[in-house]
Amino acid sequence: MMRFLMGVVATLVLLLAVGAWVVYSGRVDVSADTPHSALVYRMIETAREKSVERAISHALAPANLSDTERVRRGAGNYAAMCVECHLAPGKANSEIRKGLYPEPPDLSQPAKSQADVAARQFWIIKHGIKASGMPAWSKGGIEDDAIWDMVAFIQKMPTLTADQYAALVESSDGHSHGGVADDNHHGEAAVQEAPHGHDTPGQVSGKQAAPAVVKKKEHDPNDGHAH
Ligand code: HEC
Repeated sequence: MMRFLMGVVATLVLLLAVGAWVVYSGRVDVSADTPHSALVYRMIETAREKSVERAISHALAPANLSDTERVRRGAGNYAAMCVECHLAPGKANSEIRKGLYPEPPDLSQPAKSQADVAARQFWIIKHGIKASGMPAWSKGGIEDDAIWDMVAFIQKMPTLTADQYAALVESSDGHSHGGVADDNHHGEAAVQEAPHGHDTPGQVSGKQAAPAVVKKKEHDPNDGHAH
């Protein structure tokens, strides 16, 4: 019995030593342009899905999720914050999306899994996904309500044409969320807005914000950026 236990301990120590050697010798490939092996990818994917599934078991989508007002408000935020990674009707693949690993899903296509899809999207947008490029938008000050608006919009997006998408973005209040008054990385439109800017002050400031979003969109491929 004693010899058996010694054998188990020796094996564990050896495995730990091999693991440490692999890490410290620099043999873990962290480049984003080399894919994981199928097994590692599968393990990460399973861990992600199980983790999200567990976390959302009590999350309830608002009853008015498909309201056109929510969809409209979500459109402006989506165009301002998400489109480069997740595309939109009529939007060509982007440089950032091509380079990210895992590749951000194309949200202009219908979602693959239908079970709890709204709660799952809400959770992912709010909390992000570690080491993937998907940010935890709540850390940037986006409030739950604004996140649900984006979920409402994402659910609608696969049914939109490029023109309908552009019209919806234009009609929305632009980019709004609360809590970034001391953080100007989203640009002036966001900084000027108070918390819940999409509800009350958003009616006024939204008119200023909308052109800023459109301008941002047009700016990208055409001027200033060349390679
Ligand atoms: C810098 C790129 C980037 C930006 C910007 C970004 N995302 Fe993501 N997002 C990702 C990546 C990468 C994943 C996939 C993560 C994974 O599979 O581990 C993802 C996953 C998601 C998912 C889960 C999709 C699915 O069905 O599995 C949703 C929903 C989502 N993002 C919504 C958004 C929204 C809404 C925004 C804007 C507020 C946004 N993302 C901005 C990179 C990004």
